[in-house]
Amino acid sequence: MNRKRKGVATHHLIRHATLRQIQVFEAVARNLSFTRTAEELYLTQPTVSAQVKTFCEAVGMPLYEQVGRKIYLTEAGEMAARSCREVIDTLANLEMSIADLGGLKRGRLRVSVITTAKYFAPVAMGEFARQFPEIDLELKVTNRKGLLQRLENNLSDLYISGHVPPSNLDLEVIPFAPNPLVVIAPRSHPLAEEQDIPLERLARESFILREEGSGIRSTVERLFTEHGLPIRQRMVLDSNEAIKHAVVGGLGLAVVSQHALNLEGENSPIATLDVQGFPLERQWNIVYPRGKELSVVARHFLEFLREKGTSYIKLG
Ligand code: PGA
Repeated sequence: MNRKRKGVATHHLIRHATLRQIQVFEAVARNLSFTRTAEELYLTQPTVSAQVKTFCEAVGMPLYEQVGRKIYLTEAGEMAARSCREVIDTLANLEMSIADLGGLKRGRLRVSVITTAKYFAPVAMGEFARQFPEIDLELKVTNRKGLLQRLENNLSDLYISGHVPPSNLDLEVIPFAPNPLVVIAPRSHPLAEEQDIPLERLARESFILREEGSGIRSTVERLFTEHGLPIRQRMVLDSNEAIKHAVVGGLGLAVVSQHALNLEGENSPIATLDVQGFPLERQWNIVYPRGKELSVVARHFLEFLREKGTSYIKLG
């Protein structure tokens, strides 16, 4: 009798929620918008609202709050979104495995990369897509903080990240390729001709820094703090490309990944400075949650990256 009641409680959602509701709620939680979800799923907005309402009733807790047109997930909503994503992923993986059994490489590949990997990732994905033309690709470029949030929310299959700070997440971290950081200045800058420049000298210059949440920003801040030096911050920019332009425009010096200078030709207006301790040797890692069952396509891409990935990377 007891066992029966327990069973009933455990299967409440199986009996009251549908896969369609799970799909719609996951999309609302990701987009934080009914309108965008309706567009994404080719549904009308009243259908989206009705599906989400029934799902909330089935869960028995408020899953979101709406303030004006904005949607905020409650704690239960965050938990529900993660579970919905797992259900959808499991079914998508099943589809891909079944297609694989039939010799078809089909499905989707979602990759999130750190800002500096945006120069190489599209090239590698392009080559991979030529081998497997039936695969839908999604590439998200974000900073370190954004990448960790995406990992936490299980939004991609694989991640390419710089330094992975300790966290509660149990992660598989595969060192992948070098990601050196260098100091740049306009070519006409007096320091461009100097050698072995001490950090103390650099500290007298103004800097263009990346935004809070950026791995490069925290590396630079840590370096200056360790040497007891202040940083003269002139400007904050959240794009490595915009930083290069601001440097050329004379707004200050900056620390960027050497990958960001790849497309600069011989006559680039940017000079790499010869600063003591630089380049800062760092690396990119391929990361994914340990224990996450990777889809067939994600496993192929992981193998592809490990075997051939570095051949798409040019440094210096
Ligand atoms: P960031 O990281 O975009 O968070 O600064 C860049 C990197 O680690 O290469």
